[in-house]
Parts: sequence; C-alpha cells; structure tokens
Amino acid sequence: MNILVLPGDGIGPEIVDQAVEIIKILSPDFKLNYGLIGGAAYDAHSDPFPSDTLDKALSADSVLLGAVGDWKYDKLPRDKRPERGLLRIRTALNLFANLRPAILYPQLAEASTLKPEIVSGLDILIVRELTGDIYFGQPRGIEKNNHGEREGINTMRYSESEIRRIGHVAFKMAQLRGKKLCSVDKANVLEATELWREVMTDLSSHYPDVDLSHMYVDNAAMQLIREPKQFDVMVTGNIFGDILSDEASMLTGSIGMLPSASLDENQKGLYEPSHGSAPDIAGKDIANPIATILSVAMMYKYTFNEINKAEKIEKAVGKVLNDGYRTLDIMSKGCKQIGCKQMGELILRNIINE
Ligand code: IPM
Ligand code: MG
Repeated sequence: MNILVLPGDGIGPEIVDQAVEIIKILSPDFKLNYGLIGGAAYDAHSDPFPSDTLDKALSADSVLLGAVGDWKYDKLPRDKRPERGLLRIRTALNLFANLRPAILYPQLAEASTLKPEIVSGLDILIVRELTGDIYFGQPRGIEKNNHGEREGINTMRYSESEIRRIGHVAFKMAQLRGKKLCSVDKANVLEATELWREVMTDLSSHYPDVDLSHMYVDNAAMQLIREPKQFDVMVTGNIFGDILSDEASMLTGSIGMLPSASLDENQKGLYEPSHGSAPDIAGKDIANPIATILSVAMMYKYTFNEINKAEKIEKAVGKVLNDGYRTLDIMSKGCKQIGCKQMGELILRNIINE
C-alpha cells in the first residue's frame, strides 16, 4: 500500500510526524510518499495544490494530511490561499463523504466545558457532505450591482444525486451503530435543503431498521449543547457540517482529539484531524497529536479494513490518557503535562508493548 503524506502548515508537520511513526510500526511494508499542500506548497510552487501533489494523490491508496493555513497568506488572492488546496484535493479525489466522530474519552470528561453528566459517554458521528453546497455552488464572487455597489455572492446548491449518495453513506453508518439518524437542514427557509429533507425521507424506505429524524440547523446547534447524547449519527450539508462539527468537537474537551475521514465511493480516503493548523503554537512542541493519530486509526478501519490495527491505536490512546498524560489543550488538575513529541512516543510505546 502506498500512502501520501501531506504535512501542510503550522502544527501540521509535527503532528503528522507522530502519526507516521505509528504507521511505520504497524505496517512496515507500507510505502510512504511525501507531498506539499497549502501554504507550504504555495511557498515552493506558487500554488496551494500543485500538479505533483495531485498526481501523487491520485495514485496513492490513501492520504494522510496535517493541516493547512497561516495568517500570512490571508492577503493572497483566494485561489492561492492554503484553504483552496484543501478544497481542491477534496474535489479532485471526489471525497464527498466526511466522517467526523465526536467521542468523549471518559478520562477527559473534566476537560469539556459542559457538565460531565451531559457529555460522559458521548459518541456522535457527524456525516458531512464535502464536495457540494455553498462551498462550490455557482455563481459566486464579488461583483458590482446595478447601483454600482459591490455585492458578495455565493450559491447554496444541491442536486438530488449528491444528496442521495451522502444519504446512503449516513444510513449505512447508522445501521452499524445505534440505528438513529438525524438529518439536519434549514428546510423552513432554504429550498436547497427542502430538497435535502425530501430525498432523505425517500431514502429512509431502503433502511427500515434506521430511525430517521429531521432537525433545523439552529435547533441542532442548540440541542448539541443541551442534550448531545440524544444523537447517534447526524447527516448534513457542507456548510452546516463544517459548523456543527466544530461545535460537537468542544463537547469532547478539545478539538485536538477529533479525527476525520473523507471518503470517495470506493472507500479511498483522505484522513486528517478535524482541527486547523494553529500557527500560533506551531513549532513549540505543545500541539496535541491525538486527532491525527486517531485519523490513522480511521484509515486502517475504512480504507484498509484492518479493524485490529485501528483498535490497537485507540486502545493505546486510552491507556496514555488513563496514565494521566495530557497535552496542554486537555490538561487538567493532577495530570502530567507533556508535549506533542512525547505524547506520540507514549502512544507508540503502548502500541508496541500491547
Ligand atoms: C474544515 C475546515 C475547512 C472547511 C477549511 C480550512 C477550508 O474548516 O475542514 O472543517 O471549511 O471545510
Ligand atoms: Mg471547519
């Protein structure tokens, strides 16, 4: 197997280093290939997603990504900015299904800003559509209108087939879990999501064992804070999923804990932490590598179908947390604070000693 590693910007390289060590131990036969994306690629090639990276990504079996972005690129034209690199690789590889689990490790119940009884045992899966919606809809741009005033324009757009294919993924995920699926939309105001609700409802006849419900996105944002354990699987469009998945991450104590998988129709995937590049703490060895390490666990599970190895990683993470080790973002009283590198090494040691 051939894995393309794209460390990216900010804390990307340091967290990816830790995750790569784990792949090397678990799969010494895997070939690791490196490429550039985001600001790092812009610096080298004036392009956040150079053709060399595209070629490598197309021929890889799976992609591991760190994070992209830095404030220093904020003034560049939009198509040169690091985020564009991420959006382009999602499109190029047709990664329409983004899985973002929000699981609270019981050891971290204290790290959440919510009361422990609200979040303990939390295990939600957010299924976010990743290649459509207002992120990509045309027309878009900033244009002068008839009165000579500038207007910002974006278009929320979903075709039936786009909704259907992400719906199938979400229903199937629900079948493998608690058999509850909540579809999130804004059907009371937006036609694009009125169609979304209709298609999800139609699909549900193929999955009689799954209990489908619908919720408006504003209510969903509230319910996630009020009573998050009511949810099993949530499915939603690109923009709502972007927002709700950040919100859900904080239920678990830190966005530094959350992995993600972005999959195409054939389970080829790009795996990355749900968090960003955090340039303010880059290079200081204080970032939390766990989200990236758990993304490798997702890679074993979804792309390589090696559940065994995925569980080994998850167990090792649990063990290190049990032993009281914490990075800064999940630190609480009585625990031992360690850096990114040491966190990676401890998890690795637990995998080896298992
Ligand atoms: C995410 C990020 C990206 C998104 C940005 C960096 C383009 O926030 O993966 O959630 O909006 O999808
Ligand atoms: Mg986001």
